Amino acid sequence: MKLIPSSAQDLATVSALIAEHRDQPGALLPLLHAVQDALGHVPDDVVPAIARALGLSRAEVHGVITYYHFFRREAPGRQVVQVCRAEACQACGGEELLALAERVLGCERHSTRADGAVTLEPVYCLGLCASSPAVQIGEKLHARVTPARLQSLLAHVADTAEVAP
Ligand code: FES
Repeated sequence: MKLIPSSAQDLATVSALIAEHRDQPGALLPLLHAVQDALGHVPDDVVPAIARALGLSRAEVHGVITYYHFFRREAPGRQVVQVCRAEACQACGGEELLALAERVLGCERHSTRADGAVTLEPVYCLGLCASSPAVQIGEKLHARVTPARLQSLLAHVADTAEVAP
């Protein structure tokens, strides 16, 4: 994993979020969510400031970030494709969809394609268990996804991801 130092602007954003959250009970998870919402990931170099502010060790903060699959430690690609691998979706072809996404996007799970166009993430429940298998592309959820439907959705992702940010 290549770790890029956070910009001054990102560090300022994190400082503001720490100030906003530090006094609330159980601040760590809401703060980490806020940082990921703002930056797209939780950079390693903000962990010491978060730990200090919340009176936790760096290992405790790092442990929470790595425990929850939701948190990213690296900036994602321009598009994020998430394929559910939790139980209900697994029973309805979730693994097959993930393998298909790897082939179509040319990107392994848990990684970002070399051109930065797309990140492919297995996730553990998108809240659509009754309509599995489920996939999320950007902010949009897709239920009862068939391989053919995924292929068509991913063709669109590949097109839009070519556009520079
Ligand atoms: S198990 Fe896939 S959406 Fe819940």
